[in-house]
Amino acid sequence: MLKGDLARYQAVRARTEALCAPLSPEDMMVQSMPDASPAKWHLAHTTWFFETFLLAPHLPGYRPFDPRFAYLFNSYYNAVGERILRSKRGTISRPGAEQVFDYRRAVDRAMAELLQGASPDTTRTLAPLVELGLNHEQQHQELILTDIKHAFGTSPVQPAYQEAPEGPTPSASRPLGWVRYGGGVVEVGHDGRGFAFDNESPRHRVYLEPYELANRLVTNGEYLAFIEDRGYERPELWLSEGFEAVRSQGWGAPEYWHFRDGTWRAYTLSGLTEINQAEPVCHVSYYEADAYARWAGARLPAEAEWEAAAAGFPIVGNLQEAGRFHPAPAPEADSRLSQLFGDVWEWTGSAYLAYPNFRPAAGAIGEYNGKFMCGQMVLRGGSCATPATHIRASYRNFFPPGARWQFSGIRLARGARP
Ligand SMILES: [Fe+2]
Repeated sequence: MLKGDLARYQAVRARTEALCAPLSPEDMMVQSMPDASPAKWHLAHTTWFFETFLLAPHLPGYRPFDPRFAYLFNSYYNAVGERILRSKRGTISRPGAEQVFDYRRAVDRAMAELLQGASPDTTRTLAPLVELGLNHEQQHQELILTDIKHAFGTSPVQPAYQEAPEGPTPSASRPLGWVRYGGGVVEVGHDGRGFAFDNESPRHRVYLEPYELANRLVTNGEYLAFIEDRGYERPELWLSEGFEAVRSQGWGAPEYWHFRDGTWRAYTLSGLTEINQAEPVCHVSYYEADAYARWAGARLPAEAEWEAAAAGFPIVGNLQEAGRFHPAPAPEADSRLSQLFGDVWEWTGSAYLAYPNFRPAAGAIGEYNGKFMCGQMVLRGGSCATPATHIRASYRNFFPPGARWQFSGIRLARGARP
């Protein structure tokens, strides 16, 4: 195995732990809702992934750190065995945080042994699995942030995870404009260069009618106008399921927004702050994104429209490395499309389905993506919690239409004259 691969392994693993550094052992055990997992569970589950798919089958003589961990830290791999209910992950007081860090160190030592001792042949077999394990861990880095945000943001004392980012945040964003695309036959899907998840393949052709994309994300100020126009009370703007969700969940604003003393505030990972109208709206469900777009006389982009527009763009933006963990206003002097990568995941109007001729990977790893292709919508572009080395134009994230705890927002689209 090349030295660089081990260095990358160590860097990704260290980053996960750095994200947990501000958390106490008590913080790391909280599960504030069934969809959000405790940080301690993320730390252990990502470790279990390497132990199960790399060490157990490929490191001769490897013995699991603790055989009971397979039950506690398997997420959804039916082929691997029984596991604790997702909603019960917050009941795991033992192993304690310290033991989970011991588990990580033991698996990291064994992984170093495996990677350093591998023959060129074995290296070729292991490299894609290591890459998958690291990309998997990066997905959980984002979840550590969104899940602790939910835990802290719904706590009565709403503690801050970190200090507010240094320097002033702009109070204006570039004006809303439209970028036109001619459509026609475009190719989408992973082009085979570097890592991609199986759900991004095969690359294939799609026909698009001419369309336009908004040059930036929808802002808090624009979303506030929707709220003030009684957007949440007008059934004609909503999908039936969406309006049901508004009623049953009592939604009247994005998740984490609070109206107190005549002012809108939002919980951020740096605590409760006044809404900045220039920032992208965040923590809205697909239903809200769809209703907002209808109210604005537009629609959400199809995932192929988004990808065709994003192809060739450099991966730069307000991503995890910026350390802000909160979306930022679109720079006023930007060119063409702002905020494509980072800030917020952009809901598309596309259902999460298999691409033509899609085939999941063989074995338990095949459960990674394919079995979730029902009842979820695709999101594109990454967020302020996504690592820069994790995102690309062909990346397909997916969540149920009612999910709001991810950094999810809105870019508008509309049809164009041929
Ligand atoms: Fe996972």
